[in-house]
Amino acid sequence: MEKITGSDFASPETMHDFMAFYKRLAGQQEPLYRLDDFFGMGGAWLAFRHEDVVAILKDPRFVKDVRKLAPPQDQGEPGQKYASVSKFRQWFKEMPNMLTVDPPDHTRLRRLASKAFTPHTIEGLRPRIQQIADELLDAVQERGRMDLITDFAYPLPITVISEMLGIPVADRDQFREWTRKLLNASLDPKQEDTVSEVLDKFVEYIKTLLAEKRAHPGNDITSGLVQAHDEGDQLSENELLSTIWLLIVAGHETTVNLIGNGILALLKHPEQMRLLRSDPSLLPSAVEELLRYAGPVMIASRFASEDIPMHGNEIRKGEIVLVSLAGANVDPHKFSHPEVLDITREENEHLAFGKGIHLCLGAPLARLEGQVAFGTLLQRLPHLRLAVEPEQLTYNRSTLRSLTSLPVLF
Ligand code: HEM
Repeated sequence: MEKITGSDFASPETMHDFMAFYKRLAGQQEPLYRLDDFFGMGGAWLAFRHEDVVAILKDPRFVKDVRKLAPPQDQGEPGQKYASVSKFRQWFKEMPNMLTVDPPDHTRLRRLASKAFTPHTIEGLRPRIQQIADELLDAVQERGRMDLITDFAYPLPITVISEMLGIPVADRDQFREWTRKLLNASLDPKQEDTVSEVLDKFVEYIKTLLAEKRAHPGNDITSGLVQAHDEGDQLSENELLSTIWLLIVAGHETTVNLIGNGILALLKHPEQMRLLRSDPSLLPSAVEELLRYAGPVMIASRFASEDIPMHGNEIRKGEIVLVSLAGANVDPHKFSHPEVLDITREENEHLAFGKGIHLCLGAPLARLEGQVAFGTLLQRLPHLRLAVEPEQLTYNRSTLRSLTSLPVLF
């Protein structure tokens, strides 16, 4: 069987038909698959069975901190070829946030941000999220067509997270450009300079934001974190900057794609769309199923902090271990008929938000945004349909499942 390479994970074929890719992967019959290189990270192990992915994400021997990574020569890293990835890694060494560190730093940084993301606090945002969704559709209703990504899926979550962080409305469009550039540049070896440039601009922006919050504190997450730094000495200036950066980026890009991928999946399964439109009480289980079937985050990564035997292999200290969340979500040992989109699925232990201590902090927010977005689109646009053939749609070159646009008519 044809060998799988790192670039297969971000190829257009994989994005259009992940199930076909998964079948190729599972057909290799090696539950721990060895990749020669993964976008310049060097050689890497890949787990894709649900059981293995859960075990790895819950095992404290698999860590996040890049400072514990083996030197590039031991990974077989191909020199400067994939400098963009190295650039990111370097940046996170100096700019740690909860997603790039291990306990006890992880526990400290996550606790500082977590109050704002409890299910109870998030549920209180429902009326405002509904209002934003309605305003976005008011703006396009007369036109009868839109790019669902630009006109709806992007502005909804970026507006919500910006309000939570106390970021001025006028600055929000800037984030899309920066995040898109990072998304597309991070896997492209020639775009090392773009990665540096955009990260610098982001940092400059956040520094200005922090200065404003110091002068005029508000009732927002940024002001709270500034206070924890200035008065409580609970996090460093770089940790503060990187945490705000993480909340901006993680707080919108993934949800944009849940909405985009989710609507596309429903449009391709009209009977499921009809069912959801006729019974909005199915929205919570529909969101879970769309996360399983078309979740945006396809891969997560860890490093081995010691030599670890697994499935007859020896994962050496400092080596990279990738887990395919998208693969685990279609594992036939875990899900019956995983290739079927079933919005009434009851047993749905998908891993779209990860597992273990790094389980997505924003999951309650993403779920709520998904429910409001799908519910509003289906109720207000009864004739929603694709404006192009599904094969014409394109994806960003990224390990996120991320449509470049989604033209629809209604
Ligand atoms: C559909 C939307 C989303 C998906 C699929 C998603 C997925 C994920 C995944 C898979 C992880 C774990 C990565 C790993 O273990 O390496 C994660 C972590 C995280 N996510 Fe999300 N996310 C979404 C929305 C959000 C939102 C709206 C926020 C809000 C700020 C957010 C904030 C975070 C943060 C802060 C972490 C790091 C948690 C930690 O390290 O303890 N995410 N997300």
